[in-house]
Amino acid sequence: MCGIIGYTGGSQVLPKLFCGLESLEYRGYDSAGIAFYDTKAGMLCLKEKGRVSEIRTLAAGYERDMGRKIDAHCGIGHTRWATHGKPSDLNSHPHCTSDVSLVHNGIIENYAALREELSRRGYRFLSETDTEAAANLIDYYYKQTEDPISAIRAAIREIRGSYAFGILFHDRPSMIYAVRKDSPLILASGEDGNYIASDIPAILKYTDQYYRLEEGEIATVSPALITVYRDGGASFTPEYEKITWSVDAAEKEGFPHFMLKEIHEEPRAVRDTLSSVLSSDIEAFFAENEFDTINIVACGTAMHAGLIGKFMTEKLARIPVNVYIASEFRYQDPILGSRDLVILISQSGETADTIAALRLAKERGAHTLAVVNVIGSTVAREADRMILTLAGPEISVASTKAYSSQITVMYVISIKLAELRGRLSPGEANALLEELGSKVPAAIEEVIGQKEKIRLLAGEFLQCPSVFFIGRGLDCLLASEGSLKLKEITYIHSEAYAAGEMKHGTISLITDGTPVIALATDKKLFEKTLSNIKEVKTRGAKVILVCPDADHADPSVCDFRIGLPALNESYAPFTAIAALQLLAYYTAVLRGCDVDRPRNLAKSVTVE
Ligand code: F6R
Repeated sequence: MCGIIGYTGGSQVLPKLFCGLESLEYRGYDSAGIAFYDTKAGMLCLKEKGRVSEIRTLAAGYERDMGRKIDAHCGIGHTRWATHGKPSDLNSHPHCTSDVSLVHNGIIENYAALREELSRRGYRFLSETDTEAAANLIDYYYKQTEDPISAIRAAIREIRGSYAFGILFHDRPSMIYAVRKDSPLILASGEDGNYIASDIPAILKYTDQYYRLEEGEIATVSPALITVYRDGGASFTPEYEKITWSVDAAEKEGFPHFMLKEIHEEPRAVRDTLSSVLSSDIEAFFAENEFDTINIVACGTAMHAGLIGKFMTEKLARIPVNVYIASEFRYQDPILGSRDLVILISQSGETADTIAALRLAKERGAHTLAVVNVIGSTVAREADRMILTLAGPEISVASTKAYSSQITVMYVISIKLAELRGRLSPGEANALLEELGSKVPAAIEEVIGQKEKIRLLAGEFLQCPSVFFIGRGLDCLLASEGSLKLKEITYIHSEAYAAGEMKHGTISLITDGTPVIALATDKKLFEKTLSNIKEVKTRGAKVILVCPDADHADPSVCDFRIGLPALNESYAPFTAIAALQLLAYYTAVLRGCDVDRPRNLAKSVTVE
């Protein structure tokens, strides 16, 4: 949620801020702003409701008016996903006081009390944001102490909630200060200066050396030096880690959108993730531990991947698995102890509800296993164990290759557990894994090869107010993910239903021309699903059938067909989801939607 970039060094700061912010726009994009120290004019702040491109225009206008180029070497920038206060110029970050400019990711929970107290001390508030309270509080303590570190330390003692702050003190024109709690922030060291950022893509073009700031650490960033201060006084120069992503991986490589590029990367993501999980010690972990319960906790698409994990583990290993929506986990007061396992699935590893669930599971003594895509993320670091999905950076807000990678891990866990329980022989387990590594990626490629046909089909949805996805068994779980993908990027209302459940109420919504996407990948369930398809078809539904051998499907049951390659039925989610993602993608494109940055959403949901 929201993106932060800061740079101080020998180069001009504006290109660095714009470039960093543009690569972070997937984290939030309803407003943007920058604050920087211009060598002639002093501290300047440009911010506005809208995209980063509009701040570029603002800066160009400023230069035109002044009849000169901005000359600045130190600054901070922010791209916002509004939480407190609607997207507006005034609510945009940075928030600037007389002495301090500040950008913030996260939520300050006690902002109302802080505002009240600061108002009593004479501060005037210009915005509706929680962030302005932090800027004023730090300003207040800076005026008392004249020392940035002491001011930040005093302020964070009073602030409750989550934050990553990038701060400029106006009388220290080449310094950036940073601190974080429950919201990620990295420091990075480059040849021509140093950086702060909320995420790696922002600095990837400039350096591959970074340090993940720990909770409560305060950093001072000068052109030549980064110093980190721990509570209690000790300070040190961080030891940097090397970023292993390539710049190309974080760029579109000729695709019109990240989403399309990321769907094309699914075969590779599945292969790489399979190697990652097979080379982990997961088998030994399960062999050494007998669990009373296995629980999977996640949000959104990651939770849908968890549902596949439950289905397959129960099917192959005959072990019951619970799946929880992370934001509901704590309210269910889960019964957990030292003989229980909680698996957290998260692409970003920074989803606030998933982190809260992880902490609750640990508090109750459960074993925790993270399935994450970002090494060094909060979930990755705090869980007892980690399996890394190797999807690579996922930039488009709609998750695609991360889902394929997450279900890859789910399949391996289910196969390994089944083998350990003697429900699969080593030969059978190996055959399944072999198929996952070779046939599945090839089958996904085949589906992607049908993208032109799927693009033409997408035209069928353009004017529809509502779409239904139906299926049985695994297809019912896939329907939920297909429906989520469609609604989040096309803004068409859609619902996923167990095919047999429609007639218990929802079928009343089927009228002439209502699109129903029927998933029928399991031969054993085909006849029954077919009956349900006929039920909606006779009520006027326009049916799009997604199944293997679609060419042989009775033409009277469907209006359109998407054929899936022949594959072990258990692996159908890999191919069917690629088809549904492409359908959602092309529908969004045809409707003129901002595919990679759908409205009201952000890539990483770091607020509860
Ligand atoms: C949907 C989507 C979201 C995420 C969810 C969890 O396309 O991307 O539903 O899956 O916000 O995010 P992570 O996996 O980062 O915890």
